[in-house]
Amino acid sequence: MSEQMLSDGLAQTTLHPLELRISHANGSRITLENGKEIIDFISGIGASSFGHGHSSILNAIHKQVDKHLHVMVYGETRQSAQDLAAHRLLGMLPDSLSAVYFVNSGAEAIDAAMKLTRRVTKRTKIIAFSGGYHGNTFGALSVSSSAERKAPFAPLVGDVELVEWNEMDGLRTIDASVASVIVETIQGDAGIRIPETSWMRALREKCTQVGAHLILDEIQCGFGRTGRPFAFEHFGIVPDHLCLGKALGGGMPMGALVSKKTHLQQFAHSPSLGHITTFGGHPVPCAASAEASKLLKNTDWVRVEQVGAIIEKTLQASEQVHEVRRIGLYIAVEMASAEAVNQVIQSALEQGVLIFYFLSTPNAFRIAPPLNISDADLHEALDTLLACFEQVNI
Ligand SMILES: Cc1ncc(COP(=O)(O)O)c(C=O)c1O
Repeated sequence: MSEQMLSDGLAQTTLHPLELRISHANGSRITLENGKEIIDFISGIGASSFGHGHSSILNAIHKQVDKHLHVMVYGETRQSAQDLAAHRLLGMLPDSLSAVYFVNSGAEAIDAAMKLTRRVTKRTKIIAFSGGYHGNTFGALSVSSSAERKAPFAPLVGDVELVEWNEMDGLRTIDASVASVIVETIQGDAGIRIPETSWMRALREKCTQVGAHLILDEIQCGFGRTGRPFAFEHFGIVPDHLCLGKALGGGMPMGALVSKKTHLQQFAHSPSLGHITTFGGHPVPCAASAEASKLLKNTDWVRVEQVGAIIEKTLQASEQVHEVRRIGLYIAVEMASAEAVNQVIQSALEQGVLIFYFLSTPNAFRIAPPLNISDADLHEALDTLLACFEQVNI
């Protein structure tokens, strides 16, 4: 147990934080204050997908900082950084996803989607799925799966029902009383779980039939992580609402709810200011995001898939690895036990590679390297991991 952070006046999220003291970060590498370099094989948990400090993102941020920072709460003024971020993001999405509400985090995008679907449908029930993780505001926690994480904070948002994920039977619960159904397109915290295409299509179909809105949470799996710009593209479906975050901000804090214009318009009346945020659409994250969208559009998807395949093949060859689950560069490596996972994470860190735990999947660790990781960093990280597997001692 370490309480060093707290004694320095910083709240802790666990009793055993990594406590790495960061000096600077560039590309796939983080440099510590003591000069040690670490390969970031998780991209800041999926947020720094184009590498740390990408020059074009930094340029856009610098230019914006020189123009203006916050001037007015979201929604009253027009700011060119917001216009550009919206224009580039919407330009990559289907026509029905025609407007965006920028917020400050992923969980805020989820809350906004939950509120909007209740407002538009005039229904209250929200269906979510086993294994789902949507964040930690009251709304996002309410539609997340883990009973252990929810119980201490009850009562949560009402009229939410959890249904078995990827089971056709579960779809029967979706009827004309349902405002919305929320699902991660690819489950992340459950250990990178990919649903059947037939299930996703049936889910889409059922929502349309009964007038329930489909909310896809692509906060972690979207924006390039799965080897396509958006994860729903793998399934040939389009959601009614798309929640984005993490990589969307190019390293800055940002979330987004993307919906139809006519839906989002309903936040503006009855009541007026039905959903507001002071800093949503802040010009600096918007400037970074506009640049991140440009990088996303120009991503070499063939190489992303090649990198993913190399990681999968290399790690699968180790006897210590039970299973590699992967789509694009969204990867879970399952081992025999939580203790084995812990040993590999710790020894990898000592040897200069950052991999990390899932919140709810103790037998696996996550890998999510920058989409543009160099060949040299990729191979160095993999060699280190293979050496760490050799040292596992349980
Ligand atoms: C799938 C998913 N949804 C929502 C969130 C919440 O995002 P944030 O931490 O930005 O609130 C996360 C964060 O990890 C996530 O992975």
